[in-house]
Amino acid sequence: MKIGIIGAGNIGGNLTRRLTALGHDVSVANSRGPQTLGDLAEETGATPVPVAEAARGAEIVVVTIPFKNIPDLPAGLFDGAAEGFIVIDTGNYYPQQRDGRIAGVEDEGLTESRWTEKHLGHPVIKAFNGTYAQDILERPRPAGAPDRVALPVAGDDETAKRTVRALIDELGFDTVDAGGLDDSWRQQPDTPVYGLREGVEGVTKALASASPTRPEGFRG
Ligand SMILES: NC(=O)c1ccc[n+]([C@@H]2O[C@H](COP(=O)([O-])OP(=O)(O)OC[C@H]3O[C@@H](n4cnc5c(N)ncnc54)[C@H](OP(=O)(O)O)[C@@H]3O)[C@@H](O)[C@H]2O)c1
Repeated sequence: MKIGIIGAGNIGGNLTRRLTALGHDVSVANSRGPQTLGDLAEETGATPVPVAEAARGAEIVVVTIPFKNIPDLPAGLFDGAAEGFIVIDTGNYYPQQRDGRIAGVEDEGLTESRWTEKHLGHPVIKAFNGTYAQDILERPRPAGAPDRVALPVAGDDETAKRTVRALIDELGFDTVDAGGLDDSWRQQPDTPVYGLREGVEGVTKALASASPTRPEGFRG
């Protein structure tokens, strides 16, 4: 698949590594420009591009930048993406450590991904947000392996969600359907599933036991 990755940090970098290793055609962008992505490009064979070109021709676009920077992304970000393209959002809101207070989440009660989706102007599928970046490299397992980790995936578009779950399976992880985007508080920071390294059963239970109240440490 042709995949655009916006953000080349912990998560974006490791997704670039694994997706290129699986043979996908990956374009990757950061905020400073493609000239700063030479090492990652050399290591992986991914194509470094300006952020405005990351989605060009892409069937899947992964947005993996700090939450507070989402509104900085340029208008027309998805111009030229493939028909029916899917956007994956890996983001988390860390008001006290990184992002500051964001009214859409705090006052309007939007889930983090719903807030991101509104800014992006395109439906998103929430995935990888509770996955340690290093696990993307170190924890892939073949289907059926007893220690295969499962990741929750939330989103409103069932077809898109199926495609994303198939890609995650290819990356070496099981998935659990975590419902629509309005249910995605169940996988936000500090919930039982966040950072959990368990299989389908453990993840399913953790999602079910989440509390809708935003934890104190994650309020702005
Ligand atoms: N780290 C983890 O283990 C982890 C796990 C799950 C989810 N997450 C979430 O995933 C998101 C990304 O996390 P991360 O740890 O990968 O972040 P990170 O290591 O800080 O990397 C952020 C990347 O985003 C780029 N970026 C920032 N603003 C941008 C903009 N306006 N346009 C284009 N690119 C921009 C940065 O480019 P420059 O370097 O050029 O500025 C950098 O490549 C966050 O919401 C985080 O909470 C992280």
